[in-house]
Amino acid sequence: MLDSSTSSPAPQSAIIHLENIFKIYGRGETQVQALNNVNLIIEQGEYCAIMGPSGSGKSTAMNIIGCLDRPSSGHYYLDRLDVAQMDDVELAKIRNQKLGFVFQQFHLLTQLSALENVMLPMVYAGVQTNERRDRAVEALQLVGLGNRLYNKPTQLSGGQQQRVAIARAIVNRPVVLLADEPTGALDSRTTQEVLNIFSELNSSGITVVMVTHESDVARQTKRIVWFRDGQVVNSHVTPADLNQLILS
Ligand SMILES: Nc1ncnc2c1ncn2[C@@H]1O[C@H](COP(=O)(O)OP(=O)(O)OP(=O)(O)O)[C@@H](O)[C@H]1O
Ligand SMILES: [Mg+2]
Repeated sequence: MLDSSTSSPAPQSAIIHLENIFKIYGRGETQVQALNNVNLIIEQGEYCAIMGPSGSGKSTAMNIIGCLDRPSSGHYYLDRLDVAQMDDVELAKIRNQKLGFVFQQFHLLTQLSALENVMLPMVYAGVQTNERRDRAVEALQLVGLGNRLYNKPTQLSGGQQQRVAIARAIVNRPVVLLADEPTGALDSRTTQEVLNIFSELNSSGITVVMVTHESDVARQTKRIVWFRDGQVVNSHVTPADLNQLILS
């Protein structure tokens, strides 16, 4: 199914809608066309993996979806809002209100405890101090770390650090949780712990979008999107397609 070059009307339930998205880095001889007319619709409540070869544009697309970067051209509707042309201040607000991020390398602040790390996004969101603490404790309990509130990241295992990062990502009650290679630095047991949490969060209604290189990880989501050469070449990969695409 080749559907990158055609945009289709978005259903009411579309939470992420990329329409004719191009992204060009640099200029002149060093110019790279990282995204080349991407069209993608992800509906509310989906649990979706983004896969594809190295350099195919997955992180570039995730950065745009996550409002960390803007497309060179095209429209991006997040929760029906056209965010492609918003300025930095507006984008920061949208990120804080609507999105949660989980990265491969956790990106926790090392001098802060687990609890303080999770409380931080609520400072920017203007949540009252008492409520910040309650909500952070609740989020850490949800990821199974109610007994590690005061540990600093260096006193936690990789899997535990990633769970703190997930608690931090969900504490502002985002509509979408975005994760770029969240299990890339984890062993298979802790990978499974993280996937179980994603699955539970998705069951509770959060849309989850995750970039992964691991087909075993992707198979635990409900939908796989395949990128190649800056395009979505298959937006609903079947298990049989997946075997083919991995070999190609
Ligand atoms: N900041 C940048 N400046 C210039 N080129 C970039 C930049 N970021 C990415 N690129 C280029 O854009 C293309 C897509 O990169 P991207 O990081 O999106 O790939 P990816 O699919 O995430 O790869 P990987 O699986 O290795 O993480 C690549 O050719 C890359 O070299
Ligand atoms: Mg990448």
